[in-house]
Amino acid sequence: MSALLKTCYLNGAFQDIENTTISVLDRGFIFGDAVYEVIPVFQGVAFHLDLHLKRLAASMEAIRISPPCNDEKWQQIVEELIGLNGKGDQSIYLQVTRGVAPRDHAIPQNMTPTVFLFSAEIGAADVQPIAAITAEDIRWQRCDIKATSLLANVLLRSRAIDDLAVESILFRDDVLTEGAASNVFIVIDNVIYTSRETSHILAGITRRLLIDLLTGTSFEVVERDIPLSLLSEVSEMWITSSSKDLVPVTMLDGQKIGNGEVGKVFQHVANAFQSYKTQWLEAQTQE
Ligand code: PDD
Repeated sequence: MSALLKTCYLNGAFQDIENTTISVLDRGFIFGDAVYEVIPVFQGVAFHLDLHLKRLAASMEAIRISPPCNDEKWQQIVEELIGLNGKGDQSIYLQVTRGVAPRDHAIPQNMTPTVFLFSAEIGAADVQPIAAITAEDIRWQRCDIKATSLLANVLLRSRAIDDLAVESILFRDDVLTEGAASNVFIVIDNVIYTSRETSHILAGITRRLLIDLLTGTSFEVVERDIPLSLLSEVSEMWITSSSKDLVPVTMLDGQKIGNGEVGKVFQHVANAFQSYKTQWLEAQTQE
């Protein structure tokens, strides 16, 4: 777990995270009735904050929380938090819960959402290859909502750790969905594939940026169903997320993927992604 930075934000106030508390009746605590975003910050700039705010708005709409802030206000809170935590590189966690009410499953009227943000340190892009396991996707049917009720993801990720691996690659009805906390890309015969965007996966921002970056190059990505039976043909695999960028997977269920080394296609796309990020950040700081 990355080290927490000192200052957080709760319902209008910036304060020391050590002394920040919420009500035990908060529905985020009682029901996991909340949505969230994880936003990477590089050199003091939130990377594609607009895309995170768009997805946050979609998640809130899906669970019927009225937005507590407009985008300008979100941007202001995020920028102030980045500044108070020393700018530089960090990872912002932003959560909106439905708010505080006596426990009742039905959504109460006139709720005031709880808004909570904190920052953690973010390491340099980690390109150490990892081992993963396959697992049945036991989550609910609305994995497109970035909800904090992540019990299945917690159990699935922990099962990978028990097996001395890092991530669980999930299959629903023998079709690949995503990782427990990431999206998944595979390579077969030099073609890159990733799962279609359905309600069974989170529309990852890193995933989308990578697809858009590669579209029209010699490494186009095909979004399609990936049946379990194709796994034996996979020569490379990697996962994507806002906290880790692209991470190569070289072992799956104790077997090597391809020759068990970080592949050439991965090296190419990971370099392309890093260059894109550098250029994007330069463009922001020049504005
Ligand atoms: N998780 N799928 C799942 C289930 C995830 O939890 C995540 C990210 C992703 C990748 O999405 P993005 O590229 O937008 O980060 C896909 C975050 C980082 C987390 O829960 O910590």
